[in-house]
Amino acid sequence: MEPFNQNLAVSVDRYIEALFAPEDEALIENRGASQAAGLPDIAVSPNQGKLLYLIAKLAGARRILEIGTLGGYSTTWLARALPAEGTLVSLECEPVHARVAHQNLERAAVSAQVQIRVGPAGESLRAMIAAREKPFDLIFIDAEKPGYPGYLLQSVELSRPGTVILADNVIRNGLVMEESPADENARGARAFNAALAAHAGLESIVLPIIRDKFDGMSISIVK
Ligand code: SAH
Ligand code: DHB
Ligand code: MG
Repeated sequence: MEPFNQNLAVSVDRYIEALFAPEDEALIENRGASQAAGLPDIAVSPNQGKLLYLIAKLAGARRILEIGTLGGYSTTWLARALPAEGTLVSLECEPVHARVAHQNLERAAVSAQVQIRVGPAGESLRAMIAAREKPFDLIFIDAEKPGYPGYLLQSVELSRPGTVILADNVIRNGLVMEESPADENARGARAFNAALAAHAGLESIVLPIIRDKFDGMSISIVK
């Protein structure tokens, strides 16, 4: 057997993608339009998008909250898992990202079910908690990593028993294993992982995710 090797892992990821997560026109155009608009190339992979879609379906999610929209790539995968009457709220602080995402969601024919709220996510979440917004069935945390510990607590406030909480980029090529990572994103993800593991109201695991780098996504259920 081959020892673990990044090239092998990337080829296996492509093999899985070709079989289980081929992109349709709307997803290909989403990436193209996001790149053309100068957005960073940091959306989830097709395989992770399919995983998000499947988890949302498994959870029977009708109300989804996403923290960090970018060009709406993960948003599209998640919105496609919703039933006809389902809704998704996505939080984004960059107006340009929100505008590109809105166009992409129109092209994917899911924009009627998606509301993008523009502004710092922490403030939008605080307003939603204060307004006693109905709990979400699934929450996907994917904005700036130093904000993750705070987003976790706010997400729990917007949950009910059984809500699924997911967070992207919690391994950062293994940097989170360092005691005090120099990279602020890895530091945020490490603090998030510790808070997640210690949270008495959640049951959680981290799933390794292979892309060009080694990363991971946490999966939690609210007790
Ligand atoms: N979920 C997307 C990727 C999100 S990238 C996908 O997989 O397709 C992270 C996004 O979070 C960026 O668009 C960035 O502008 C946004 N962001 C960063 N800090 C934020 C904040 N404080 N509030 C809201 N959005 C933020
Ligand atoms: C990066 C990747 C992400 O998925 C994200 O949400 C933010 C940053 C990155 O690789 O830098
Ligand atoms: Mg991410």
